[in-house]
Amino acid sequence: MNPSKDILETNFADSGAYDRRIRRFVPYYEEMMNSVLDCLPELDRPRAVLELGCGTGNLSEKLLKKNAFLKLIAIDITKEMVESCQTRLSQYVQRAEVIYADMMKFKRLNSFDYVVSNLSLHYPETHEKKISVCRNIYQSLKPGGTLSFSVMMESDAPESAIKTWKRWEMHVRRHGVTREELGDWRRTHHVADHPVPPSFWLEWLRGVGFKHCELVWRKTIFGTIQAGKL
Ligand SMILES: C[S@@+](CC[C@H](N)C(=O)[O-])C[C@H]1O[C@@H](n2cnc3c(N)ncnc32)[C@H](O)[C@@H]1O
Repeated sequence: MNPSKDILETNFADSGAYDRRIRRFVPYYEEMMNSVLDCLPELDRPRAVLELGCGTGNLSEKLLKKNAFLKLIAIDITKEMVESCQTRLSQYVQRAEVIYADMMKFKRLNSFDYVVSNLSLHYPETHEKKISVCRNIYQSLKPGGTLSFSVMMESDAPESAIKTWKRWEMHVRRHGVTREELGDWRRTHHVADHPVPPSFWLEWLRGVGFKHCELVWRKTIFGTIQAGKL
Protein backbone atom coordinates (compact mmCIF):
# COMPACT_ATOMS: atom_id res chain seq x y z
CA MET A 1 0.00 0.00 0.00
CA ASN A 2 1.22 3.49 -0.84
CA PRO A 3 2.30 4.92 2.60
CA SER A 4 1.09 8.43 1.89
CA LYS A 5 -2.31 7.12 0.70
CA ASP A 6 -2.41 5.18 3.96
CA ILE A 7 -1.74 8.32 6.01
CA LEU A 8 -4.31 10.31 4.00
CA GLU A 9 -6.91 7.67 4.78
CA THR A 10 -6.01 7.83 8.48
CA ASN A 11 -6.08 11.64 8.53
CA PHE A 12 -9.26 12.13 6.55
CA ALA A 13 -11.36 9.01 7.17
CA ASP A 14 -13.42 10.76 9.86
CA SER A 15 -14.97 13.74 8.09
CA GLY A 16 -16.75 14.99 11.25
CA ALA A 17 -13.47 15.02 13.19
CA TYR A 18 -11.82 16.81 10.26
CA ASP A 19 -14.34 19.65 10.36
CA ARG A 20 -13.93 20.02 14.13
CA ARG A 21 -10.12 20.10 13.88
CA ILE A 22 -9.41 22.18 10.79
CA ARG A 23 -10.41 25.61 12.11
CA ARG A 24 -8.33 25.10 15.24
CA PHE A 25 -5.23 24.05 13.32
CA VAL A 26 -5.76 26.66 10.60
CA PRO A 27 -7.03 29.71 12.51
CA TYR A 28 -7.24 31.62 9.19
CA TYR A 29 -9.26 28.88 7.46
CA GLU A 30 -12.21 31.13 6.47
CA GLU A 31 -9.93 33.97 5.37
CA MET A 32 -7.89 31.50 3.34
CA MET A 33 -10.96 30.05 1.57
CA ASN A 34 -12.14 33.58 0.82
CA SER A 35 -8.75 34.39 -0.70
CA VAL A 36 -9.26 31.47 -3.11
CA LEU A 37 -12.83 32.56 -3.92
CA ASP A 38 -11.81 36.21 -4.39
CA CYS A 39 -9.79 35.15 -7.46
CA LEU A 40 -13.07 34.33 -9.23
CA PRO A 41 -15.09 37.23 -10.68
CA GLU A 42 -18.86 37.70 -10.28
CA LEU A 43 -20.42 35.29 -12.76
CA ASP A 44 -23.19 36.36 -15.14
CA ARG A 45 -23.35 33.17 -17.23
CA PRO A 46 -22.75 29.44 -16.67
CA ARG A 47 -19.18 28.57 -15.80
CA ALA A 48 -17.53 25.21 -15.16
CA VAL A 49 -15.38 24.84 -12.06
CA LEU A 50 -13.18 21.95 -10.97
CA GLU A 51 -12.24 21.60 -7.29
CA LEU A 52 -9.32 19.37 -6.32
CA GLY A 53 -9.31 17.70 -2.88
CA CYS A 54 -12.76 18.95 -1.85
CA GLY A 55 -12.79 17.21 1.56
CA THR A 56 -16.11 17.67 3.35
CA GLY A 57 -17.14 20.44 0.92
CA ASN A 58 -16.45 23.61 2.91
CA LEU A 59 -15.12 25.49 -0.13
CA SER A 60 -17.50 23.70 -2.53
CA GLU A 61 -20.57 24.89 -0.64
CA LYS A 62 -19.27 28.46 -0.44
CA LEU A 63 -18.64 28.42 -4.19
CA LEU A 64 -22.12 27.15 -5.04
CA LYS A 65 -23.81 29.60 -2.64
CA LYS A 66 -21.86 32.55 -3.99
CA ASN A 67 -22.41 31.85 -7.71
CA ALA A 68 -25.76 30.64 -8.99
CA PHE A 69 -24.28 30.20 -12.49
CA LEU A 70 -21.50 27.94 -11.39
CA LYS A 71 -21.38 24.22 -12.21
CA LEU A 72 -18.97 22.29 -10.03
CA ILE A 73 -17.08 19.04 -10.36
CA ALA A 74 -15.35 18.30 -7.04
CA ILE A 75 -12.92 15.40 -6.60
CA ASP A 76 -11.27 13.75 -3.62
CA ILE A 77 -9.20 10.62 -3.08
CA THR A 78 -10.67 9.71 0.33
CA LYS A 79 -13.99 7.82 0.08
CA GLU A 80 -15.33 9.16 3.39
CA MET A 81 -14.66 12.73 2.25
CA VAL A 82 -16.41 12.12 -1.07
CA GLU A 83 -19.49 10.71 0.72
CA SER A 84 -19.53 13.54 3.23
CA CYS A 85 -19.23 16.15 0.44
CA GLN A 86 -21.98 14.45 -1.60
CA THR A 87 -24.33 14.64 1.40
CA ARG A 88 -23.36 18.24 2.06
CA LEU A 89 -24.05 19.28 -1.54
CA SER A 90 -27.22 17.23 -2.03
CA GLN A 91 -29.33 20.39 -2.38
CA TYR A 92 -27.12 21.44 -5.32
CA VAL A 93 -27.40 18.15 -7.19
CA GLN A 94 -28.27 19.95 -10.48
CA ARG A 95 -25.04 21.93 -10.34
CA ALA A 96 -22.58 19.79 -8.44
CA GLU A 97 -20.97 16.41 -8.98
CA VAL A 98 -18.60 14.91 -6.41
CA ILE A 99 -16.27 12.23 -7.73
CA TYR A 100 -13.83 9.81 -6.11
CA ALA A 101 -10.64 10.50 -8.07
CA ASP A 102 -6.92 11.15 -7.73
CA MET A 103 -5.81 14.64 -8.72
CA MET A 104 -2.58 13.07 -10.01
CA LYS A 105 -4.57 11.33 -12.74
CA PHE A 106 -7.54 13.63 -13.25
CA LYS A 107 -7.50 15.58 -16.53
CA ARG A 108 -10.30 16.78 -18.82
CA LEU A 109 -8.88 18.72 -21.74
CA ASN A 110 -10.06 22.37 -22.10
CA SER A 111 -13.11 21.75 -19.92
CA PHE A 112 -13.06 24.23 -17.02
CA ASP A 113 -13.24 28.00 -16.68
CA TYR A 114 -11.80 27.80 -13.16
CA VAL A 115 -9.86 25.29 -11.10
CA VAL A 116 -9.80 25.84 -7.34
CA SER A 117 -8.40 24.01 -4.36
CA ASN A 118 -8.12 24.63 -0.63
CA LEU A 119 -5.34 22.99 1.36
CA SER A 120 -4.84 19.98 -0.92
CA LEU A 121 -2.22 20.59 -3.60
CA HIS A 122 0.73 20.19 -1.21
CA TYR A 123 -0.05 16.47 -0.70
CA PRO A 124 1.65 14.97 -3.81
CA GLU A 125 4.96 13.88 -2.27
CA THR A 126 7.53 14.92 -4.84
CA HIS A 127 8.28 17.99 -6.93
CA GLU A 128 7.68 15.92 -10.07
CA LYS A 129 4.22 14.90 -8.87
CA LYS A 130 3.29 18.49 -8.02
CA ILE A 131 4.49 19.67 -11.45
CA SER A 132 2.43 16.91 -13.06
CA VAL A 133 -0.67 18.15 -11.18
CA CYS A 134 0.08 21.72 -12.41
CA ARG A 135 0.28 20.38 -15.97
CA ASN A 136 -3.01 18.45 -15.65
CA ILE A 137 -4.70 21.59 -14.33
CA TYR A 138 -3.30 23.71 -17.16
CA GLN A 139 -4.55 21.24 -19.75
CA SER A 140 -7.96 20.96 -18.07
CA LEU A 141 -8.53 24.73 -18.10
CA LYS A 142 -10.07 26.45 -21.10
CA PRO A 143 -8.05 29.31 -22.63
CA GLY A 144 -8.75 32.36 -20.47
CA GLY A 145 -9.24 30.15 -17.42
CA THR A 146 -7.97 30.80 -13.89
CA LEU A 147 -6.44 28.59 -11.23
CA SER A 148 -6.54 29.62 -7.57
CA PHE A 149 -5.43 27.45 -4.69
CA SER A 150 -4.30 27.64 -1.09
CA VAL A 151 -1.65 25.31 0.28
CA MET A 152 0.57 24.77 3.27
CA MET A 153 3.87 26.49 2.41
CA GLU A 154 7.49 26.51 3.45
CA SER A 155 9.28 29.84 3.77
CA ASP A 156 11.21 31.15 0.79
CA ALA A 157 13.80 32.46 3.24
CA PRO A 158 15.22 29.51 5.26
CA GLU A 159 16.41 31.89 8.01
CA SER A 160 12.80 32.90 8.77
CA ALA A 161 11.28 29.39 8.48
CA ILE A 162 11.55 28.50 12.17
CA LYS A 163 10.07 31.84 13.25
CA THR A 164 7.15 31.35 10.84
CA TRP A 165 6.38 27.87 12.24
CA LYS A 166 6.63 29.22 15.80
CA ARG A 167 4.16 32.00 14.95
CA TRP A 168 1.70 29.43 13.60
CA GLU A 169 2.15 27.30 16.76
CA MET A 170 1.43 30.35 18.90
CA HIS A 171 -1.75 31.04 16.88
CA VAL A 172 -3.07 27.47 17.18
CA ARG A 173 -2.28 27.34 20.90
CA ARG A 174 -4.47 30.45 21.25
CA HIS A 175 -7.20 28.48 19.49
CA GLY A 176 -7.07 25.80 22.17
CA VAL A 177 -4.72 23.28 20.51
CA THR A 178 -2.88 21.45 23.30
CA ARG A 179 0.83 20.56 23.42
CA GLU A 180 -0.10 16.88 22.98
CA GLU A 181 -2.19 17.66 19.90
CA LEU A 182 0.71 19.67 18.46
CA GLY A 183 3.01 16.71 19.12
CA ASP A 184 0.63 14.34 17.30
CA TRP A 185 0.30 16.82 14.47
CA ARG A 186 4.09 17.08 14.06
CA ARG A 187 4.42 13.30 13.81
CA THR A 188 1.92 12.98 10.92
CA HIS A 189 3.03 16.25 9.31
CA HIS A 190 6.44 14.77 8.53
CA VAL A 191 4.86 11.89 6.63
CA ALA A 192 1.74 13.42 5.12
CA ASP A 193 2.35 17.06 4.22
CA HIS A 194 4.90 18.06 1.62
CA PRO A 195 4.95 21.87 1.61
CA VAL A 196 7.31 23.82 -0.66
CA PRO A 197 8.04 27.56 -0.82
CA PRO A 198 5.74 29.75 -2.94
CA SER A 199 8.61 30.51 -5.36
CA PHE A 200 8.65 26.79 -6.33
CA TRP A 201 4.95 26.86 -7.19
CA LEU A 202 5.31 30.06 -9.20
CA GLU A 203 8.21 28.64 -11.19
CA TRP A 204 6.40 25.34 -11.86
CA LEU A 205 3.20 27.09 -12.91
CA ARG A 206 5.11 29.31 -15.37
CA GLY A 207 6.96 26.23 -16.60
CA VAL A 208 3.77 24.44 -17.65
CA GLY A 209 2.45 27.55 -19.44
CA PHE A 210 0.57 29.66 -16.87
CA LYS A 211 0.83 33.47 -16.99
CA HIS A 212 0.19 36.14 -14.34
CA CYS A 213 1.24 33.79 -11.56
CA GLU A 214 1.05 35.50 -8.19
CA LEU A 215 1.02 34.85 -4.46
CA VAL A 216 -2.19 36.70 -3.53
CA TRP A 217 -2.48 35.88 0.18
CA ARG A 218 -0.15 34.61 2.89
CA LYS A 219 -0.33 33.92 6.61
CA THR A 220 2.36 31.97 8.54
CA ILE A 221 2.59 28.52 6.89
CA PHE A 222 -0.33 28.97 4.48
CA GLY A 223 -0.67 30.85 1.24
CA THR A 224 -2.86 31.30 -1.84
CA ILE A 225 -1.66 31.45 -5.42
CA GLN A 226 -3.46 32.56 -8.55
CA ALA A 227 -2.45 31.85 -12.16
CA GLY A 228 -4.06 32.28 -15.57
CA LYS A 229 -4.15 30.41 -18.87
CA LEU A 230 -4.11 32.83 -21.80
C1 LIG B 1 -6.65 19.20 4.31
S1 LIG B 1 -7.91 18.44 3.39
C2 LIG B 1 -8.70 19.85 2.63
C3 LIG B 1 -10.14 19.58 2.34
C4 LIG B 1 -10.96 20.77 1.88
N1 LIG B 1 -10.48 21.28 0.61
C5 LIG B 1 -10.97 21.85 2.92
O1 LIG B 1 -10.60 22.99 2.60
O2 LIG B 1 -11.35 21.60 4.06
C6 LIG B 1 -7.07 17.71 2.03
C7 LIG B 1 -7.95 16.88 1.14
O3 LIG B 1 -7.21 16.53 -0.03
C8 LIG B 1 -7.53 15.21 -0.38
N2 LIG B 1 -6.44 14.67 -1.23
C9 LIG B 1 -5.15 14.45 -0.88
N3 LIG B 1 -4.47 13.94 -1.92
C10 LIG B 1 -5.34 13.86 -2.96
C11 LIG B 1 -5.24 13.40 -4.31
N4 LIG B 1 -4.10 12.90 -4.79
N5 LIG B 1 -6.33 13.48 -5.10
C12 LIG B 1 -7.51 13.97 -4.63
N6 LIG B 1 -7.67 14.38 -3.35
C13 LIG B 1 -6.61 14.34 -2.52
C14 LIG B 1 -7.68 14.49 0.97
O4 LIG B 1 -8.40 13.30 0.86
C15 LIG B 1 -8.41 15.57 1.76
O5 LIG B 1 -9.80 15.46 1.67
